[in-house]
Amino acid sequence: MPALDTTCDAARQLTWKPRKLKAGNSATGGLYCRLASIARRNSLPPPIAASSLPHTTGTAFPPTHEMVSFRVCIYVGGVHQSKPRHNNQRAEPPQMPDPTTPPVQITWHPEAISRQQRESLSQHKGCVVWFTGLSGSGKSSIANAVDQILYARNVRSYLLDGDNVRHGLNAPQQVLQSLYGESFARRFGLGFSAEDRQENIRRISAVTQLFCTAGLVTLTAFVSPYRIDRDRARSYITEAGGAGDFLEIFVDTPLAICEQRDPKGLYRQARAGTLKGMTGIDDPYEPPHTPELTLEGNSAPPQKLAQQVIDLLVHRQIIPAVQCPTA
Ligand code: ADX
Repeated sequence: MPALDTTCDAARQLTWKPRKLKAGNSATGGLYCRLASIARRNSLPPPIAASSLPHTTGTAFPPTHEMVSFRVCIYVGGVHQSKPRHNNQRAEPPQMPDPTTPPVQITWHPEAISRQQRESLSQHKGCVVWFTGLSGSGKSSIANAVDQILYARNVRSYLLDGDNVRHGLNAPQQVLQSLYGESFARRFGLGFSAEDRQENIRRISAVTQLFCTAGLVTLTAFVSPYRIDRDRARSYITEAGGAGDFLEIFVDTPLAICEQRDPKGLYRQARAGTLKGMTGIDDPYEPPHTPELTLEGNSAPPQKLAQQVIDLLVHRQIIPAVQCPTA
């Protein structure tokens, strides 16, 4: 296994002294992403999330002899310090791992075909275009319109849509139950609690990072209501690839308009009190502070708004201004 290149900036950060962090602090996730990316680039084993180490939170590299001098251990001495953010499940105390469970041993396998090779084959770059906004804001319609324009220009793209992904990869408990049983469904099925939304976005971040590496213009349409989850997605994707790989598009449509549209009747149910935890009604939505682009969802038809996204992709030199050749 090759030793870590200590001359690179990122590797130097690994010499950080142990310091105190609050459990659940965003820096913890950011650090994990950074270390994971360094490990990947150096063909080293991925860091272990320290939540699986007794009395620690944060991140540490597995203590292989190559890594010993770069081990980072960020800890709070086993004291859980996180506070509840909302009326949700995020503030659960961290579960200490079962000491009888052996640590998972996984090793990153180098890929034979590089991202650059894939991008040069398709004559455009990969990236993640992350649409966020309320349900009914127009994310899916705009993202689909972008997808259509890209397809017509021979750009390889794919749209991951919240409702669709929740039919499979992120299926709810009731879907998993019949096939896999109750305890499995309870463990892996996702609903709309803050913690489930967090896991929804974490899984999608990982999938989109792979799609991006595969050279696809990867479009997502998730409510993704929490800034910290979107920021973690950004860190995960840009640390693995490059700074320009993540474009956050805020579809800014007033709640009143979304409620008026109410394509699935969810706002009506939420107002009637039969649906709990509806984003914008009794669950929060945190708009991005500095998105790459804000679209006023009610200002023009989706096809027109989609053109602004295409212009951004051309401006950032992710896709060419002219049609891509067919490969
Ligand atoms: S996210 O919050 O975890 O990002 P996601 O984008 O996957 O949500 O799914 C949102 C879609 O699920 C909405 O478009 C809507 O159709 C449906 N939905 C069902 N319940 C809720 C809810 N409580 N809040 C928001 N959307 C909901």
